[in-house]
Parts: sequence; C-alpha cells; structure tokens
Amino acid sequence: STKIIMDCDPGTDDAFSIAMAVASDELDIFGVTTTYGNVGLDHTTNNTLRILDWLGSNIPVYQGIDRALLGTLVDASEYHGATGLEAPEIGQPTSTPREKDAVSFLIDTLRSSSSKVTIVASGPLTNLAVMLRLAPDVVSKIERIVFMGGSTDYGNDSPAAEFNMLCDPHAAQIVFDADVPKTMFGLNVTHQVIATPQRVQAMRDLGNDAGRVFADMSVFFEKVYRERYDFDGSALHDPCTVAWLLRPDLFETRKMRVDVETNSGLSFGRTVHDIWNIAEKGCHTDVALSADADGFFELLTNLLSKLR
Ligand code: BDR
Ligand code: CA
Repeated sequence: STKIIMDCDPGTDDAFSIAMAVASDELDIFGVTTTYGNVGLDHTTNNTLRILDWLGSNIPVYQGIDRALLGTLVDASEYHGATGLEAPEIGQPTSTPREKDAVSFLIDTLRSSSSKVTIVASGPLTNLAVMLRLAPDVVSKIERIVFMGGSTDYGNDSPAAEFNMLCDPHAAQIVFDADVPKTMFGLNVTHQVIATPQRVQAMRDLGNDAGRVFADMSVFFEKVYRERYDFDGSALHDPCTVAWLLRPDLFETRKMRVDVETNSGLSFGRTVHDIWNIAEKGCHTDVALSADADGFFELLTNLLSKLR
C-alpha cells in the first residue's frame, strides 16, 4: 500500500478526496493535516474532524498554519458555504485535533518513516513550504507531492490564477523548487471532471449514507459552476489527486517545469508551464492534461459504496 499524508482545507471537494482515500484499501493514511483556505483554519480543521468521525475513521488530524507566508487572506466561501462544508447530516465532531502542529507532524513522520511517504495536498501550500524550509532533509523521504492547484490555462479566483495558488503563491514556489517528484492537477484537467446530474444520481442510487450525503454535497457545490462557468454540475478538483494514486491510467500527464508568478499584478498566482523546456531549469512536475471523467466517476462511486 502507498503511505500518504493528506494536507487539505475541507471544503466540499476536499471532503470527497478524504472519503475516497479512507475507502480505498490501497492507501495507508498516516494523518491529515489542515490548512486555512476555502474558509478559515478553525472551520477547515473542524470539517476534517467531522468527515473522519462520520466515516468512523480514527486517522489523526493535525492543525496547520492559519495564513499565507505573505499577503492577505482570501476565501472561497461563495463555493463552499460560510463554514466550508454544507453537509448538515455529517454533524459535529466528537474528536479533537492532536496537540502537535501539522508541520511538526509532517517533519517527524517523514524523518521516522522507514520508507518514502506521498503527500497529497488539496489546499494552499503553506504547510508544505514551511516544512521544506524548516527541515530540508525531509525531501529525501518524500515519494511524491500530488497536489491540486494552478492551471495550464485560466484562473478561477482571478482571471489568471487558481484559488490554491493565489492563496499563497510564495509557498507554492517553494514547493515547485523542491527537488521531489510532483504531480499537478490544475483547473485545465479538474474542469473536465464534472459531477453531472447523471453521475450524482449514480452516487445516490448506491442507497447508502455516503452516496446520499456526497450526492447532496455535489449539488450544493454546483451553484457557482452552473452560474459562472455554465458547467452541467460541480467540478471535483481535489479528488483527482487520490484518483490518480489509485488509477494513474485515468489521466494523461506530461513532465514540465512549473513556476508561479509571485510578483503582484494581473498574473499574481498564475502558474507558468515550460512545455518546451525553454528555460532548461530542470523539471519535476508531471502536469495532468486530461482525465477520463467517466472512469473517475466509476471509481468514485465504487469507493463511496464501501463506506457507511
Ligand atoms: C481549489 O480551490 C478550492 O476551492 C477547492 O477545494 C480546490 O482545492 C480549486 O481551485
Ligand atoms: Ca481544496
């Protein structure tokens, strides 16, 4: 099995990601670390605990950093609701985060692990950047960083930039510079993974709690996607990371150098993709370019069927 740590900001699509990882037998989740992002850190941490408790999982949760390295806080509550996860059925958590902070957990776990660990990131990359600065030695223990963020084309939080990148482009650049393999799922591919009414119905038809609750969550999440993007449902960004770990064949990727604009201006937070290797800077990022969306939803529905 693949050893993973998830770093996330639930968040509707982050919740899908966690559920898929918990449902899979092939992933061994050491812990979930939280970041600010879609909403403030208190909410994202609470939502992480809510989901894991509801799923009956005792995976430990570690609270991370509550703001970007530089810059001001932005949020995505227009997509995810004021508390970041509109799922009344999930209720409030009974468990609490561990004492240790997320960055210390990441560093200690990587250092003491007998084999390499994959980090799955689906929020702003602040925790990972601070980890890399505090403990550059952990690079040798990271199998790969699989993350959702950026885009080879347009933005969603500014015309140029994707939300996770725009939250903390400086942190993202530290991660891009790290000498570890990375797989990137940007909007160019996650906007291909749409929870259409038919696909949502397939979740609901499972007849279990998870099928119903996650179907309802995708319906709540689709509002902005219908109004602004004219999509036939919500885009399930974050779970592409977990899906790729389980079924890499569902995605086409291409290795290229990626950097992110960290100077302010129109393109602040935009990822820049050197597809022709013009800069000759060395590249570590496998950038997802296309997805087999039907295959993705088949996998998702199958995993949801294994839950309560
Ligand atoms: C990303 O932003 C967040 O709102 C989602 O959870 C996802 O991680 C998409 O741009
Ligand atoms: Ca997210």
